Amino acid sequence: MSKVFKDKNILIGISGCIAAYKSADLTSRLIKLGANVKIIMTANATKLVQPLTFQSLSANPVYFDTFQSTERWDIEHIALAKWADIFVIAPATANVIGKAASGIADDLLTTTILATEAKTLFAPAMNTVMYQKKVVQDNIAKLKRLGYDFIPPGKGRLACGDWGEGKLADIEVIIQHIEKHLNSSTKRDMEGLRVLVTAGPTCEPIDPVRFITNHSSGKMGYAIAEACIQRGAAVDLVTGPTNLQTPAGANVFPVESAKDMYQAVLKLYEMADIVFKSAAVADYHVKEVASSKIKKGQDSIKLELVRNPDILMELGKRKTKQVLVGFAAETEDLEKNALEKLKRKNLDFILANDVSSSESGFQSDENKGILFSKDGSITPIPLMAKKEFAHRIIDEVIKKVKSD
Ligand SMILES: Cc1cc2nc3c(=O)[nH]c(=O)nc-3n(C[C@H](O)[C@H](O)[C@H](O)COP(=O)(O)O)c2cc1C
Repeated sequence: MSKVFKDKNILIGISGCIAAYKSADLTSRLIKLGANVKIIMTANATKLVQPLTFQSLSANPVYFDTFQSTERWDIEHIALAKWADIFVIAPATANVIGKAASGIADDLLTTTILATEAKTLFAPAMNTVMYQKKVVQDNIAKLKRLGYDFIPPGKGRLACGDWGEGKLADIEVIIQHIEKHLNSSTKRDMEGLRVLVTAGPTCEPIDPVRFITNHSSGKMGYAIAEACIQRGAAVDLVTGPTNLQTPAGANVFPVESAKDMYQAVLKLYEMADIVFKSAAVADYHVKEVASSKIKKGQDSIKLELVRNPDILMELGKRKTKQVLVGFAAETEDLEKNALEKLKRKNLDFILANDVSSSESGFQSDENKGILFSKDGSITPIPLMAKKEFAHRIIDEVIKKVKSD
């Protein structure tokens, strides 16, 4: 077993399953691997196993009450949420899974699921009929789409005497999943690389108070910037106006119009090893921008629109060492249009997504799409949280960078 567990903060959530006793073994194994372990139990879990067992094994107090008075002045669920490098709910009841899928936070465990930014894994354990119920499967599918991971239960004889699916995964398997996530969150495969990311919409002025823009939220580009920073890259982020918190560690270049973005991007291009062009750049700008506010008077007015420079096309022409990744937001003929753009603009990759879909695209927290490479590989990426989605794109791009 690798040293990845050493000094890692692992938060274990235990809910009211008969398999709760197996978490004692999990706790003990993680402690032996060098991790710091803290435990949250639901009230029902404490009826099945004594908290004292976990307190002794983890050498930490066991937490089970959101309103428990503590000697410290921090709020328990926030302190635990921030402390955790990873949060593993093992075993997870159908009840906890259902509450998490609905955003319900009515005890310490479910409140911490909402409050943490740490990777959260669920290891379900329940009777086969419960596990296979559509509502439970729908809740699991929803949580997976939102970026939560599941450690599938095993098959065998269940505590209730039935045979089937629903047995808590082997502790060894749970440990392997934790290890995989700890490894990937510390993966530093972009060290030494400089990445240029564009994000958000552009705003094309009409007069001093009005502009033309689009629905891009910037979430995809910001997720890519964050993921690249996490993997060790130096990141220049050229961004149109968004409501998002800028990723810590990025060099941020705020711009308004497509022309501003063009200039900022060309200045940074030569230094870049990889470019992710995820901004939704306006194709046209208003020819004559009024110097003062256009007064309401005439029944109709005409705005003449003129083509903006095509930033991606220009980058394709000037490409030397850069790996160029474009984005094709399409509403029809996804594959055909994306492949045509890949070729015409001299790109290395193009991520095609259907922005007409309500579950992915512009404002959504999730995305799905197909990544096409110049070399002919096609990687469909299913619906998932934009941060996870960003990592999937980067995984493919990095393979190319490392093989060149
Ligand atoms: C002995 C016993 C064993 C249980 N085992 C499970 C189980 O394995 N999985 C499950 O989802 N619910 C199980 N339940 C039902 C849950 O405890 C019940 O749904 C409870 O409301 C869950 O609360 P919690 O999710 O807050 O811990 C069990 C109940 C009892 C009494």
